[in-house]
Amino acid sequence: MKILVLGSGAREHAIVRALSRDGEHHDIIAAPGNAGTADLAENVALDPANPSVVAQFADDQGIDLVVVGPEAPLVAGVADRLRKMGIPVFGPNKAAAALEGSKSFAKFIMSRAGVPTGAWEQVSNLDELEKALDTVGSPYVVKADGLAAGKGVLVTEDRAAANAHAAHYLQDGTVLLEEYLAGPEVSLFFLSDGRTVVPLSPAQDYKRAEDGDEGPNTGGMGAYSPVPWLSEDFIENVTRDIAQPTVDEMAANNTPFIGLLYCGLVMTYDGVKVIEFNARFGDPETQSVLARLESDLAPLLLAAATESLDAGTEVVFSDKAAVTVVLASEGYPDNPQTGRPLSGLEEAEAVEGVHILHAATAQTDSGLIATGGRVLSVVAVADTFAAARAASYQALGKISLAGSHYRSDIGAIATS
Ligand code: AMP
Ligand code: GLY
Repeated sequence: MKILVLGSGAREHAIVRALSRDGEHHDIIAAPGNAGTADLAENVALDPANPSVVAQFADDQGIDLVVVGPEAPLVAGVADRLRKMGIPVFGPNKAAAALEGSKSFAKFIMSRAGVPTGAWEQVSNLDELEKALDTVGSPYVVKADGLAAGKGVLVTEDRAAANAHAAHYLQDGTVLLEEYLAGPEVSLFFLSDGRTVVPLSPAQDYKRAEDGDEGPNTGGMGAYSPVPWLSEDFIENVTRDIAQPTVDEMAANNTPFIGLLYCGLVMTYDGVKVIEFNARFGDPETQSVLARLESDLAPLLLAAATESLDAGTEVVFSDKAAVTVVLASEGYPDNPQTGRPLSGLEEAEAVEGVHILHAATAQTDSGLIATGGRVLSVVAVADTFAAARAASYQALGKISLAGSHYRSDIGAIATS
């Protein structure tokens, strides 16, 4: 198969890596890709969020399948354009990507589908805001309705802070106030062809910058998979009560969801509830989930893209533990310092069970440099979480990047 993967992060490197390990050989093009995908795919410098550019390229190259990594191309309508041209694409149309891009749309679909989620109020001005803060109560969960690059959510007990955050986002749209959902979070991904859903394996990610879930929110500092403390019927229950009804409701709404349905879940005392949907593979969970994938990936994504997923499909994962730790630049997430030399990757990858996925790196004449906040994902796969953690941290110890930081507690909870 000739496959085009859109995006440039560690998630896309993980997707390219998984595709390159299929039984069948694929010609893989990453656009724009990164220094890591360059080893497994041909990198092509094009704007992945420009529908005309992507469609023209895919047509010229005779691409058999386009896999969309990040949300920006989805929101820009890249999948719509490809689909219109008859090019199979794993990723929803713009209207269906609103499941991620619009929190109020997601709540609307969930209430129609009877999917468990927190209570919410949508507000469009400061008067409504005051009333809603009274009704929903503390801790306040304030969310910008639209995409806000991970910065739209504030969880706080401080009413003035909740008010200020909401007021800021009310300048350009509506804001949601949500019931605070207490409990551990789990991510579960589903392949969807618009009708049929097929679950992957659960993962847990770490959103805060520092150990013990302290510090600011980030794009994700690490993830592990599977999640050993979940009940045996977890996947079955989430499939039946959340993913299938959501995909059915999306079809009934004339916004069929074709691609990856990311269910962000909270394990509350009152059962599993949805905290968010995303319309794409999660980052960094994908790095851990795909590290355990044993089935061939391309046929699964193609079946979803061509509306031919088989309800009985079982995606096979190894029983091993996967731990992904993100190496971040000094100052990340507020003010990442970039351009510094990065070394020791070969030594790190020599650690048994370890592979490295690039996110923000560039090859220069004088060697590799870091070019952004989240620089690398260091992934270790081993028989136990203790061994996977040990391998990942041993590998990190061999990597040099001045001022860099990473969390030291990724996956620790899974070892007990
Ligand atoms: P979101 O962008 O909706 O995923 O929110 C980002 C993070 O904020 C989530 O992963 C949670 O940790 C936290 N969060 C969001 N909504 C809630 C909620 N209703 N209750 C508690 N925490 C929340
Ligand atoms: N891991 C969170 C996300 O991908 O949005």
